[in-house]
Amino acid sequence: MIRAVEAADVDAWAAMRCRLWPLEDASEITREAHAFVAGGEGSIVEAVFLAEDDARKPVGFVELALRGFSDGCESRPVPHVEGWYVEPVARGRGVGRRLMEAVEAWARNHGFKELASDTELHNDASLRAHESCGFQEVERLIKLRKVLK
Ligand SMILES: CC(C)(COP(=O)(O)OP(=O)(O)OC[C@H]1O[C@@H](n2cnc3c(N)ncnc32)[C@H](O)[C@@H]1OP(=O)(O)O)[C@@H](O)C(=O)NCCC(=O)NCCS
Repeated sequence: MIRAVEAADVDAWAAMRCRLWPLEDASEITREAHAFVAGGEGSIVEAVFLAEDDARKPVGFVELALRGFSDGCESRPVPHVEGWYVEPVARGRGVGRRLMEAVEAWARNHGFKELASDTELHNDASLRAHESCGFQEVERLIKLRKVLK
């Protein structure tokens, strides 16, 4: 079952966010999840859907933000998939596709014509899964940073 995330889901959702982004600051990832369920202030997250298995255990999530711009997209703002995750034991059974269908429906219902996403260059599985769900690759980027002193 796919449904919008609720306040009672926050710990399960935050734990999955930490598994998706293991190199990020877990306390910040958790804080942002709490900020979203508390009403959105301090969170860039716009919509979150959770997948549950037959025992009502959360097994995946997808979350969206509205970005002012996304490379390769024509509309501004544009809904952008910021996180798409299914627990390893639940993968390959259509859960990820149903999560993506849920954000697509959200975007359509809010009047958007495009959905953006991204993935790291080495994450071939994610690229293939996106393509299977109808995404087309539009650009490859190298991100750069300079620390200012
Ligand atoms: C990407 C991810 C969410 C897909 O979830 P999933 O439940 O396994 O996906 P589904 O079973 O619904 O598959 C959806 C489609 O993607 C394809 N797909 C899924 N995993 C794939 C893989 N590893 N390689 C190639 N294609 C894949 C499926 O074949 C299916 O297409 P089909 O119906 O035409 O066969 C899941 O693998 C995951 O959590 N990966 C780790 C986190 C990640 O990389 N997230 C994306 C970047 S944020």
